[in-house]
Amino acid sequence: MTSAENTFRIGLLGRGTVGGAFATLVPEHADRIEVMTGLRPTISGVLTRSSGSFDEILKRSDLIVELLGGIAPAREYVLRAMRAGRHVVTANKQLLSQHGEELWDVARSEGVQLRFEGAVAGVVPVIRVLQESLAGARIDRVHGIVNGTTNFILTEMARTGMTFAAALAEAQQLGYAEADPSEDVDGRDAAAKMAILARLAFDTPVHLDQVRYEGIEQIQPDDLEYARELGLGLKLIGTAERIGDALSVRVHPAFLYPGHPLASVSGPFNAVTVESEAITEITMSGPGAGGPQTASAVLGDVISAMIPPASTPPTTAVLEIVQDVTSAFYLHLEVADEPGVLAQVAQVLALQGVSVKSVVQKGLGDQARLVMVVHPVLESRFFAAMTQIARLDFLRAPPRAIRVLEEEFG
Ligand SMILES: NC(=O)c1ccc[n+]([C@@H]2O[C@H](COP(=O)([O-])OP(=O)(O)OC[C@H]3O[C@@H](n4cnc5c(N)ncnc54)[C@H](OP(=O)(O)O)[C@@H]3O)[C@@H](O)[C@H]2O)c1
Repeated sequence: MTSAENTFRIGLLGRGTVGGAFATLVPEHADRIEVMTGLRPTISGVLTRSSGSFDEILKRSDLIVELLGGIAPAREYVLRAMRAGRHVVTANKQLLSQHGEELWDVARSEGVQLRFEGAVAGVVPVIRVLQESLAGARIDRVHGIVNGTTNFILTEMARTGMTFAAALAEAQQLGYAEADPSEDVDGRDAAAKMAILARLAFDTPVHLDQVRYEGIEQIQPDDLEYARELGLGLKLIGTAERIGDALSVRVHPAFLYPGHPLASVSGPFNAVTVESEAITEITMSGPGAGGPQTASAVLGDVISAMIPPASTPPTTAVLEIVQDVTSAFYLHLEVADEPGVLAQVAQVLALQGVSVKSVVQKGLGDQARLVMVVHPVLESRFFAAMTQIARLDFLRAPPRAIRVLEEEFG
């Protein structure tokens, strides 16, 4: 039997995929948590669209777990809970990437905790590592595969040669993609997560609107096939990196050479690589989503909140966010099978200062293709060259380009 004094009351907002799993997990772990913390966690109320009242739940709770998703009414409930002196745990990346500064300010001024490990990379403890373990390191770059749906699709396309549409249908069938997968496949979900990681890694405000993102809908099976011959594998990569005194945060498909720490992350898994001179490089990987997995990250946050303290400190810098960065590229050209084609392409590239690292010429006649990887160059110069190449009369289809991540640490 547990007396009211040693009970820790959790108000649960949302009982969907993650909230439902969380409601199951709490009683399963209550004995263990009571031994660890001296307090026995209980769910004191649950809010869904059809049941529960936020005001009633707030009155009866020591901590609020927000698993509604979206901005409204989640933002209002999280703010009201903190202003009423309650700790809050959330997995809501859209909310934090658009209203994080407001929420973290209120958490600090009210002296309550706002924890959000489940918001990025599911159960992979990347938030905690950035906030606590690496608080003493000056981080230079964070790379992440932070969307399991797209990683599953790209893995299947590479493994079987299937189209994007077929791989997406398979992901939906297996429960790795939602009925409406648009925010996953267009890169916006990963962009929200990268905004949160960048905020923590670089102590600077980063809003979702400042993150450039591209998705994977345009990837063709033959891009993967040709790239394999060049030793490359494709991932949807989120990057946040210092460039001089500024910061670039972006999400786009990128080819990786096999030695890159993210190259072997396949299927619905997530991984994040943190690079800093002091630590060289740390990679964390694991299941990126799923009800029970994310609920376990949420419960970890609840236990941490039961044993204080942790907070997101105020930003220490306002870094300019730059949009034009240096990248290597894979370039895929469907060309007429005639002499002089490679020389003309090379000339256009050279005029923009783009130099070629490797090239393969494939096929004959209607199947002739020129596939190359170019050395890192300012993206604006590469795209200027691509616009000129698109006008060359021997091109049979618009050129296709995908970034390539060069491996260099420290
Ligand atoms: N699913 C994952 O694998 C995963 C992974 C990481 C993070 N997350 C994040 O976790 C959060 C929850 O995701 P989920 O997949 O569990 O969502 P979900 O399955 O759609 O569940 C949402 C829950 O919130 C309730 N709800 C939504 N709007 C409401 C409103 N206006 N008033 C009252 N209740 C409302 C729903 O009520 P009804 O039951 O009445 O519909 C449902 O119980 C999101 O922020 C998501 O981004 C999810």
